[in-house]
Amino acid sequence: MSKLDILEFPDPRLRLKAHPVETFDAALARLADDMLETMYAAPGIGLAATQVNVQRRLLVLDVSEAHDDPRIFVNPELLEARGTEVCQEGCLSFPGVYADVERKDWVRVRAQDVTGKPFELETDGLLAVCVQHEMDHLVGKVFVDYLSPLKRTLLLRKLEKQRRHAG
Ligand code: NI
Repeated sequence: MSKLDILEFPDPRLRLKAHPVETFDAALARLADDMLETMYAAPGIGLAATQVNVQRRLLVLDVSEAHDDPRIFVNPELLEARGTEVCQEGCLSFPGVYADVERKDWVRVRAQDVTGKPFELETDGLLAVCVQHEMDHLVGKVFVDYLSPLKRTLLLRKLEKQRRHAG
């Protein structure tokens, strides 16, 4: 496995739309493994292929405390969603900043595993929020898009500041 570089906002490649995965081969399995390694190392709880500059409909996540529940979603589709929930979100493409975002509280998602086998997941809470956040990346959307212009400006200013200190 190897660690991949994560694109950081405002990299325009974060706005690219991912294409469906059609080939379920060893390269796809390796990419999913590399994305998991990259996500754990960051550390983070979710990562979309878009964030590592691969325009394929693939995302990985693990919301468990022990980091022992890796999940891989290929070609995920939202089938149903209910309720609303406000959750504080962060994103590996926005290191060090967080904001409250309103999402659906319960979702039903259909996806495929790395071998192409279809599965469905019904979930709520953090996992539901995380799936929605990562699915957004696959269509070029990021969590700050949900914020009011003022809140977004403040958050992006903070992001810049963090970057200067880190550099
Ligand atoms: Ni993100």
